[in-house]
Order: sequence, then structure tokens, then C-alpha cells
Amino acid sequence: MPDRETLKTTTMSAAEKHRRYLFPCVTTYYEQPLTLVRGEGLHVWDDAGRKYLDCFGGVLTVSIGHCHPEVTEAIVRQAQTLVHTSTLYANPALSDLAEAIAGVLPGDLKRIFLSNSGTEADETAVLLARVYTGAQEVVVLRYGYSGRSMMAMAASGQAPWKQAGNPVPGFVHAIAPYCYRCPLKLTYPSCEVACAKDVDEVIQTATSGRVAGILAEVIIGSGGFIVPPREYFQIVADSVRRAGGLFIADEVQTGWGRTGRMFGIEHYGVTPDVMTFAKGMANGTPIGCTATTGAIAASLRPLSFSTFGGNPVTSAAALATLRVIQKERLADNARVQGERLHAGLRELQRRYPLIGDVRGLGLMQGLELVKENKVPDPQSVAPAACSSAREACGAMSCASPRL
Ligand SMILES: Cc1ncc(COP(=O)(O)O)c(C=O)c1O
Repeated sequence: MPDRETLKTTTMSAAEKHRRYLFPCVTTYYEQPLTLVRGEGLHVWDDAGRKYLDCFGGVLTVSIGHCHPEVTEAIVRQAQTLVHTSTLYANPALSDLAEAIAGVLPGDLKRIFLSNSGTEADETAVLLARVYTGAQEVVVLRYGYSGRSMMAMAASGQAPWKQAGNPVPGFVHAIAPYCYRCPLKLTYPSCEVACAKDVDEVIQTATSGRVAGILAEVIIGSGGFIVPPREYFQIVADSVRRAGGLFIADEVQTGWGRTGRMFGIEHYGVTPDVMTFAKGMANGTPIGCTATTGAIAASLRPLSFSTFGGNPVTSAAALATLRVIQKERLADNARVQGERLHAGLRELQRRYPLIGDVRGLGLMQGLELVKENKVPDPQSVAPAACSSAREACGAMSCASPRL
């Protein structure tokens, strides 16, 4: 056991300690790191007392505002009652959450597995698809992001997120439904959604012809808020199901109201076989959730266990968050406010050639910033815009590593 001496803390700044003691890969935004000490509603404050509008929602996580009183109260109440059980024992907080989620999930999706992050939720979904179908290969999308486990890095579709190459085999990357830079050089709608039809070709040529499924973000988030055309998921789900696979919708960013519907996939008129959630589901406390039907869930053998999955405090936070989303009709609000935001950003686009594209659904809106002739400039334009937003307007935003 370390003695008490080693647990002393110094007065060195939080940013300096971060730089000195965390892995160097844990980088922060901005040339001058921002140290956040407090949050309330839409705003956060730094260690010098400056207030910022959090346009990033704490990484699309703080879905109903920082330190929302109903969530805080639920956390405190549960922390004073029972903090930990593991999934080896039933606990009312977890069971109430599971019942509430089953009540709002689409179709026959009535079973959930809770974990601690989006990475784990996606990992569980792929495991489930492989065990249920007996097939191994999984179609994923270029520009996609699934997290930072070995499997998630292999599934992700961008070099900066693949630290160890493709350490888990079995993923094939289909082209992204990226209309602004169509990989097939076509234009929607005259393209007849050729990118979606290409998934069939990928299955026929890059796999054994039988797949475990497709894992796809409903809007490709970290890859630049790439919004697929309305017909996309219907076509893709059909192709994958014909090849024996499951349609896994990653709703880690799009779930729970952010896009103007409770789930992003509702914009597409197709019900997934498996859905994954995290981020906004518990308003900033760590959670991951994989949802599916009873039949698919039953394919995993007993003794699948998680120490912290379904933690009572996190479950209480999630239930309080989802109740506020429902009670205050925040999905409808995201649709209305999102339309206003989108129109305003389009107006800016007309004035500033730097804004190449404006895209998103509901309050999940992004700008693609470019140089002349749509040339991307990931190193300077987007980080500079984020820094200016911080300095000039006190607004926190996010720059995708790719764009
Ligand atoms: C779409 C998507 N899936 C999965 C993940 C991984 O989630 P986590 O960082 O909670 O592991 C992320 C994280 O940004 C994500 O955006």
C-alpha cells in the first residue's frame, strides 16, 4: 500500500498535471489547454472564471445540460443508498432503467446489456452478431468511429484511430454515404443511392458471402457528421439481411433525441436488429448500452458479466436523464431548434466561402470548413475556427481530426 505521503497533491495547475502524468496521447483541444471547473445548463466555466457556451455538449454527452438538478438529485440519492452491486445481483435502479428503455425502443428490441462506454456497447453488439449468426465478417463504414478497444479500432474507418493497424480481423469497410464528397463522384438523388447498393457488391466480393452484420453509425459523427440519404439504411439493411447478417445501428451519438427523433434511425424507416447507445444517455456519467430482441439476446451463453455495467448510480442518472428528455419533449425541441440552427448556418455559408457544407439532423449540426475548391485543410482551418470561437465568443466547439 502506498503511504499517505505519496497521495499528496500539489498546487501545480490541472493542465500541467495533465501534461505531466497522463499518457502523452491524451491530448487536449486548443494550443492553450482549457481547464474546466464548473458546469451549469448550457455553460461551463474555466479556472480563471471565464464562462463558455458549450456547443459541443461535453462531446455530445451532456444531453440535458450540465449538472441538471434532476440528474444530480438522482445521483446523490442513489449514492447515499447503494453505490455498487455488479450484474450478479438485481438492483432496482438497473431494473427500473431496463424496463423504461424497453418501453421506448422500437420494434421487438426489448432486451438490454449495460456496460460503461460506447466502445463496450459496440463490442457487445459485434460479439452478439457473430455468435447469433455463426458468421464472422462484419461490414463497417469508411470514416466511421467505434471506440478505442482493439475491435473498435479495427472497425473504425480512419487511420488516426487505428493505433495498431487492424488488430481484429473480419471487418470490411464499405464506402461512406458522403454526399458532399461522393466517393463515386455522383450527385444525390440522380445517383439512386449507389453507395448503399455498393454494400451488396462489398458482401459479394470482399467477404465469404455470409456476414454477421453491418455496424454503422446513423450519422457518421467523429468522421464529420456525414448524414446518409433517406433511402440508405433500408437498402443496406436488406443487403445485409439477405447475406444472413444483422443490422446494428450505432446510436452512440444520435440516440435519445439529439437528431429531432428519439432515435436517429427513425428518420430512415427501418428497425435495426441491434442498437448501441452511450454518451447522451446518462448526461455525462459513464454508460454503454446494447439493445436487441429476446431471440438474438438469448444467443449469448450465461455468465456474461460486467463489474460496473448497470451500476446503480449510473442507472439512476440514466433514468433521470431519459425522463427529462421525455417529459420536456426534448427530441421535438431539438428538431425545431435544429432547423433554426441549420438555417442560420446556411445563411453564414452563403456569406463565407470557408464554409463548404452545412449538414446534420436536429441539433446535431456541423460545418465542413474548406479552402478554395472544396480543398480540405484539417491542420489549420478547423482548429483556427475553434480557437476563434473560444476567444471571440466564448464558445466551445469541436474539430474532427480528418476534415
Ligand atoms: C459513434 C460512436 N461509437 C462509439 C464510440 C465509443 O464510445 P466511448 O468513447 O464511450 O467508448 C464513440 C465515441 O465517440 C462514437 O462516437
